[in-house]
Amino acid sequence: MDARLNPLGGIKANLAALDLKDEINRLRREKNAVILAHYYQEPALQDIADFVGDSLDLSRKAAETNADVIAFCGVKFMAEVAKILSPQKTVVLPDLKAGCSLEDSCPPEAFAKFRRAHPDHISLTYINCSAAVKAESDIIVTSSSAEKIINQLPADQKILFAPDKHLGAWLNRKTGRDMLLWDGTCIVHEKFSVVELLKLKAQYPAAPVLAHPECPAAILDLAHYIGATSGILNYALNSPEPVVIVATEPNIIHQMQLKAPHKTFIGAPGADGNCGCNMCPYMALNTMEKLYLALRDLSPVIEVPEDVRLRAKVSLDRMLEMAGAVTPVRVTGD
Ligand code: 13P
Ligand code: SF4
Repeated sequence: MDARLNPLGGIKANLAALDLKDEINRLRREKNAVILAHYYQEPALQDIADFVGDSLDLSRKAAETNADVIAFCGVKFMAEVAKILSPQKTVVLPDLKAGCSLEDSCPPEAFAKFRRAHPDHISLTYINCSAAVKAESDIIVTSSSAEKIINQLPADQKILFAPDKHLGAWLNRKTGRDMLLWDGTCIVHEKFSVVELLKLKAQYPAAPVLAHPECPAAILDLAHYIGATSGILNYALNSPEPVVIVATEPNIIHQMQLKAPHKTFIGAPGADGNCGCNMCPYMALNTMEKLYLALRDLSPVIEVPEDVRLRAKVSLDRMLEMAGAVTPVRVTGD
């Protein structure tokens, strides 16, 4: 097609002529940028990042970096956390439409109403929510820090937990609490099939099943280990078993294969018997091309209104303080 009739096609053709890795490296140096990536990003983005981690690790990195620019390869709420903790920095997200079904399930007005209806409860809120919801919350948690944080609260403390009902139910079981749960879910972790997972387990009876706590209870009941992405990675690398079944977004398998190429990592299946349906469609919006453009143009930029930022920072700072030090991923070999 004539490039004048299809301007996007023209940009794509121009980008195709570039060595994106070289260009991103050049721009990273020129702009004093740090590239942070979540484990659910496509392998090329994980490979070019300065740091790859789970939500808590990435929040910490964003808070402590000396860079002028943070290019956040993850979803919007993660980039907002970077901006809330490092307001003096320019934070760019390769695609502003990279949202999250949990964030969508919890509009700030409805959440504020939920809080008003339960004035004797504090609100513990999963980091997968908007900055406005963080601003209405008492303490933010990630899946790697939630249990530790809950255990620091008085046993009789009444708690609201939003927005992930599966993570909330799992935390209730782990901690013996009775937190009141918001009715939100992750569309990715809800797609794993119990029937297909049972078939896979029968095929590989010795393989441990590792699951993210955003999975429904029926999947978690089949898991040998339940934890955040960093914990899943740690377990997968340190398990003596040569085959491991992974019930979370399959891009994390890239890190497993890099660090333990001699092992086999199998993504837990969806109802159609393969794991393609469990790719996060929001994370998938970020690409190397869009990262290059974001660094080149310093756009799309993440902004958080200052009054919202200041209130959201209080609940995030509480998380960072209560979460304390996190065990780094270690490979002991097998
Ligand atoms: P982690 O904190 O475990 O990395 O989880 C982030 C997430 O969005 C899971 O779906
Ligand atoms: Fe949100 Fe689920 Fe995607 Fe995580 S995997 S970013 S919870 S939609």
